[in-house]
Amino acid sequence: MRVVIQESYDKMCKWAADYISARIKAHNAGPEAGRPFVLGLPTGSSPIGVYKELARQNQAGELSFANVVTFNMDEYLGLPHEHDQSYWYFMHDNFFDHLVDMKPENINILNGMTEDPEEECRRYEEKIKSYGGIDLFMGGIGVDGHIAFNEPFTSLSSRTGVRNLTTDTRIVNSRFFGNDPEKVPAQALSVGVGTVFDSKEVLILINGHNKARALAATVEGAVSQKWTCSALQNHNGAIIACDEAACGELTVDTYKYFLDIEKKERL
Ligand code: GLP
Repeated sequence: MRVVIQESYDKMCKWAADYISARIKAHNAGPEAGRPFVLGLPTGSSPIGVYKELARQNQAGELSFANVVTFNMDEYLGLPHEHDQSYWYFMHDNFFDHLVDMKPENINILNGMTEDPEEECRRYEEKIKSYGGIDLFMGGIGVDGHIAFNEPFTSLSSRTGVRNLTTDTRIVNSRFFGNDPEKVPAQALSVGVGTVFDSKEVLILINGHNKARALAATVEGAVSQKWTCSALQNHNGAIIACDEAACGELTVDTYKYFLDIEKKERL
């Protein structure tokens, strides 16, 4: 596992955006350019700076999304697209609407208004497979270490499915719902931990003091379904991009190790 520590949130976002950009460009210049680059994407406040920088590069003509297919991690169950807290709305508002050459038909987001959630999730997994899997999955994590909406004790081999949200997560996410946890949907559709870990590469953003415990559990803890993010330790292409603030619970040795080993930027 790589852990790339950046001084600030902005630098973390710049690093992550440059990494993704380099991967898309390398794909398009390589032997697999005939098929699209398949990019997994998260919502939440963590990736907003990454989306801004990717959109800037796209608008400046430095990076094209014409050959990119995206799959989002999750969606609240029961929120229509036009609800300003649906993840569909979030993704268009914060990212897709700012890209000059993203094809709408290449955007995949679980349908939170589906009448048959199980079928919707099965279809999603099949569609990911039809593209040959995900090349790079960017993600964030919750303060309890949840990845997508895979709350503590979700199986580490879980697939896309319906998830019940914990009270803790509804409280944390209530900041987007007028600070009323009851207004946060109780269920969501989410890719599984297994779905994320089938990707060739996984890039997880972890920033801020409130994620320090989760970062330590991800990097230093035992692999455990209690911290679903800890499954990253078993992935051969896992990168964590984090800021200084999130490093507060790492041991000094761990912190120094990753600063040392990452001294030379390896893109
Ligand atoms: C939600 C999303 C997760 C996201 C998490 C953290 O629960 N389902 O995918 O990682 O929020 O969000 P933030 O980046 O705002 O801390």
